[in-house]
Amino acid sequence: MAAMRKKNGGKKVTRYTYDNMKEPRTPETGHTSLLPDDEQVVMLPMDNGWSKAISVGKLPDDDERPVIVDMDPAADPVLFWAGKRNRREIPVLPLQRNEIVSESRIAQIIEGARKAAESKTAAAAQSHLFADLEKTLRESDRSKRVEFYTHDEGWRNKLICGDSLHVMESLLHYEGLRGKVQMIYIDPPYGIKYDSNFQQRIDSTKNDHDDPVDDVLTIKAFRDTWSLGVHSYLSYLQERLYLCRELLKDTGSVFVQIGDEHVHQVRELLDEVFGSTNFVGQISFRTKIPLRNTLLAGICDYLLWYSKDKSRVTYHKIYTNRGVGAGTQFTRLELPDGTRRPMTDDERENPDEVPEGARVYRLIDLNSSGLTPSCVFDVEFEGRTFSPRKGHSWKTNPAGMARLIGERRLEAPGDTLQYVFYFADFPYLELTNLWTDTQGATGKRYAVQTSEKVVERCIHMTTKPADLVVDITCGSGVTALCAERWGRRWITCDTSRVSINVARKFLASSTFAHFETWDSNVSSGFKYESPEKVTLGAVANDRETGDLIVVDKPIIDETAIRVAGPFEVASIGRYSVDDWKGSVIRDVAPEPAKLENYIEVICRLYRKGAAVQGATGLVHAIAESENDKIAISVGPLTGRVTAKQIHDAVQDAMASGILEVHVVGWAFEANVGEVKSQLEKRGRVKIELIMIRPDTLAEGLKVTQPEMLFSPLALPDIDVQKSKEGVLVRLNGVALFDRTRRSTEYKDADSGYVSAWYLDEDYDGDCFVDCQMFFDFKKTPNIKAALRAEIEPDEFKLKLTSEPFTPRQYKRIAVKVVDVYGNESTVVRDLA
Ligand SMILES: C[S@@+](CC[C@H](N)C(=O)[O-])C[C@H]1O[C@@H](n2cnc3c(N)ncnc32)[C@H](O)[C@@H]1O
Repeated sequence: MAAMRKKNGGKKVTRYTYDNMKEPRTPETGHTSLLPDDEQVVMLPMDNGWSKAISVGKLPDDDERPVIVDMDPAADPVLFWAGKRNRREIPVLPLQRNEIVSESRIAQIIEGARKAAESKTAAAAQSHLFADLEKTLRESDRSKRVEFYTHDEGWRNKLICGDSLHVMESLLHYEGLRGKVQMIYIDPPYGIKYDSNFQQRIDSTKNDHDDPVDDVLTIKAFRDTWSLGVHSYLSYLQERLYLCRELLKDTGSVFVQIGDEHVHQVRELLDEVFGSTNFVGQISFRTKIPLRNTLLAGICDYLLWYSKDKSRVTYHKIYTNRGVGAGTQFTRLELPDGTRRPMTDDERENPDEVPEGARVYRLIDLNSSGLTPSCVFDVEFEGRTFSPRKGHSWKTNPAGMARLIGERRLEAPGDTLQYVFYFADFPYLELTNLWTDTQGATGKRYAVQTSEKVVERCIHMTTKPADLVVDITCGSGVTALCAERWGRRWITCDTSRVSINVARKFLASSTFAHFETWDSNVSSGFKYESPEKVTLGAVANDRETGDLIVVDKPIIDETAIRVAGPFEVASIGRYSVDDWKGSVIRDVAPEPAKLENYIEVICRLYRKGAAVQGATGLVHAIAESENDKIAISVGPLTGRVTAKQIHDAVQDAMASGILEVHVVGWAFEANVGEVKSQLEKRGRVKIELIMIRPDTLAEGLKVTQPEMLFSPLALPDIDVQKSKEGVLVRLNGVALFDRTRRSTEYKDADSGYVSAWYLDEDYDGDCFVDCQMFFDFKKTPNIKAALRAEIEPDEFKLKLTSEPFTPRQYKRIAVKVVDVYGNESTVVRDLA
């Protein structure tokens, strides 16, 4: 229970929204079926002219043979690899919004504590800061909810579970984002090692190799991506980089983070896609301290920065704090009495030893690099006469020189004049392409997490507030978090459910400074700190000093504490034929691993004698015994079973006179339970929803009892109670697959297997809106100073009972539970 130990003050809780920036309405759960049915495929050209440089017999369109290379010596150098293609077909699939995260857990805790303090009771009533608003907006707009891509609505950031290739194509084709993205950050797996791409559990960055991995999407991504080693790696990047170019604005930039292993190849590839003339920089940033016993310690990684069009690229200078003393040029002191001297060795090594009130400075040669005749003259200074060096002039004219002398800005330590440049005149350095002040990510939530400082700098250099930032390798969501922190819109995606859930928690448990804007919209821009820059020109000419805009130091509104704005969690919303074309690797001893068709393998595992059907329709196999005849429909390898698939499979089955349908899948949409009962109520047909055990593919299908791989869809175990204060929901348990016993067991909600749970208090059947959310904070945020109060540590722990609430319009709740492996299951319950 939260109790605010000290009242008074505290900050208001704010968030940034982008209602003034419109985007087409994305379909919601189950509604993508209302879009035109034909599967569309686009041809992605991946050729900036390089194929002209090779002589290949013209291959027929459907020929997938690797291109055989014969370089034209007149052409630019281009990288070739096995299987390089100059075009590829990509299915165009819409996104589907499954969930709106309108609340922030941290905001709920803060407001709950505040309310409790105000009402002077010990009870910390949780409050709904933002979910109520979201619900009201949804209802006012309800009639338009199924009109997708034709109506605009306010922008919302997006966390998307899906392969970047499909996601980017969807952003281009359906979401209207061609040429709209200001910056893309890509942190692909650095190499072809499995661990560089993968985290098993939400709650640990350590992978346990004895714990068979769970996440089928990640396994598939890994196998597809890396089957030809580095050759596949380059094909994978090539396709995605061509799509990035389509998404970028003309002023936009892409950053690819990469290690030693492949930096040379990836840079060559970026030259091909963006053109070598659009290369902006290769940044080396420090990630580690050197390890002993290595041949030559590697302590940095690289950022390859390319622009869409270098002549138009947005670039804001970044300044870092300059140092004084050893290793710098600021090694002289002016003491409070005006006397000047070099720093002592102690002062150089430890600038804290510099006497109080002393001004640190350096000397700069007053000879200019060129020759301006009006600035060639003799100067009388401290009893000596000085002239500029032969062929040079002074950096100022006689009047300016007189002012410099008057301001005590001259020194003559040798035979020429020097300008006194105080450290305080400009205590900054312009950032270069060598970043030694960075380090690896701290307090990691994800095994391969990037340093926030690195991503933030890229954001500052190339974007302004409200610009759109995309990261197609979400991981723990560092880019989304940094974009949120600095008031940029964001989209991020990942194939891993662990990643999506780590990022969702990370965002919902973070607080940020609230920056002052010019009007109430972030797009009006932030007000920035503008420190003075005292230049030689300003002192010599008695001019106003220049002000710097420091884009990474917006002015903070100290009366507010900000939380993440609303964002939506989406997935690829319609199955593609591609999803069923997947292959799985099967060990058939003593033969080596063999590729077999995915549908066939799953159908035969489910019912040994099943007769696999032809390519069309959603009944993939028919199993017949003395007692029954069932139609089997298999869910996509890379997506969830949707309501539409169940509908279509039932129709196909009934058309063949089959009245029992088993839909077998890896993951199911939240509304499938409801759809099943509606269809069954209409009569005649019986439907079973069957989960495929998560590690089925991970074990290479070496299964002695295949039937153990399947179980009826298991929903979270909840209790709903009515009390004086309102309805309370209690989470009792979650179904988890036990690998040792190969069975599904219900685990108690407090047994460590629940990563998070979310409650929609008034589920409208289309999209899950988080009204309350519960999870453990990995790291307790320090909000004491902001609140001027303390929050009980228990508030940061996973709670199993919701706050009371009043039933509303739909009299129906939904509870979504995420287990530590990233598996989600949702149960819907009527309150009537
Ligand atoms: C090196 S990690 C990114 C880490 C991230 N920068 C962070 O700071 O947490 C690469 C991520 O790319 C994801 N990934 C790999 N292939 C993908 C694909 N085809 N589509 C989307 N994500 C993919 C992996 O699941 C992994 O989370």
